[in-house]
Amino acid sequence: MRSEAAHRPIRSFVLRQGRMSEAQARACETLLPRYGIAFAPRLLDLDREFGRHAPRVLEIGFGMGETTADIAAAHPGTDFLGIEVHAPGVGSLLRQVEARGLANVRVIRHDAVEVLQAMIAPESLDGIHVFFPDPWPKKRHHKRRLIQPPLARLLGERLRPGGYLHVATDWLDYAEQILAVLSAEPLLANTAEGFAPRPEWRPLTKFERRGLRLGHEVRDVLFRRR
Ligand SMILES: C[S@@+](CC[C@H](N)C(=O)[O-])C[C@H]1O[C@@H](n2cnc3c(N)ncnc32)[C@H](O)[C@@H]1O
Repeated sequence: MRSEAAHRPIRSFVLRQGRMSEAQARACETLLPRYGIAFAPRLLDLDREFGRHAPRVLEIGFGMGETTADIAAAHPGTDFLGIEVHAPGVGSLLRQVEARGLANVRVIRHDAVEVLQAMIAPESLDGIHVFFPDPWPKKRHHKRRLIQPPLARLLGERLRPGGYLHVATDWLDYAEQILAVLSAEPLLANTAEGFAPRPEWRPLTKFERRGLRLGHEVRDVLFRRR
């Protein structure tokens, strides 16, 4: 008989307990019912969730959500679906959504891979953001890296033709891996020769600032669904 561990999929995150501030905990309690969507294995009706039909962008791993809130505030005509497993981050983004009156953000607290598989219809997204995915720098942990061929296929399938996939990282070997994996996916086409110029609309993220302090160089990767 196989052990339970043998059935468990390799995930791109390890759930840390993390300290949750009182305000973040309260935000999860009071604001998740308003801006949150519960994970369920059935397709989401995004028009219904956002109360309108608008371009929609899904973000994997928004961290504490500052960048998500800034981008959503700067693009009120676009709807943003943020997915994050880290509870304090979910609380943090919910607080910003409420404080800034952002009507165009919804949040799912769950593994983004499962959300994409079970809840997002094919060809339904205009854009996907993956900013500073966990780098898993140790070689024996590389298998945990989010951007792998099966996910590249899934992301391509969920984008509408012409929709974009934007990944940024400050780990050079991961950047090169991301470029190679996405280049090998037939549904996706690179918009640049290799790495893309940093788009001026992308605000500096929290993890990016940390990477820059450590002297890392940041790479943007920007593909489109064929
Ligand atoms: C290095 S942090 C970057 C956070 C933020 N994007 C930034 O740049 O500041 C990566 C985040 O991705 C989240 N994450 C990793 N795998 C995930 C998954 N499969 N689904 C949802 N969130 C995930 C982690 O919890 C973490 O908060």
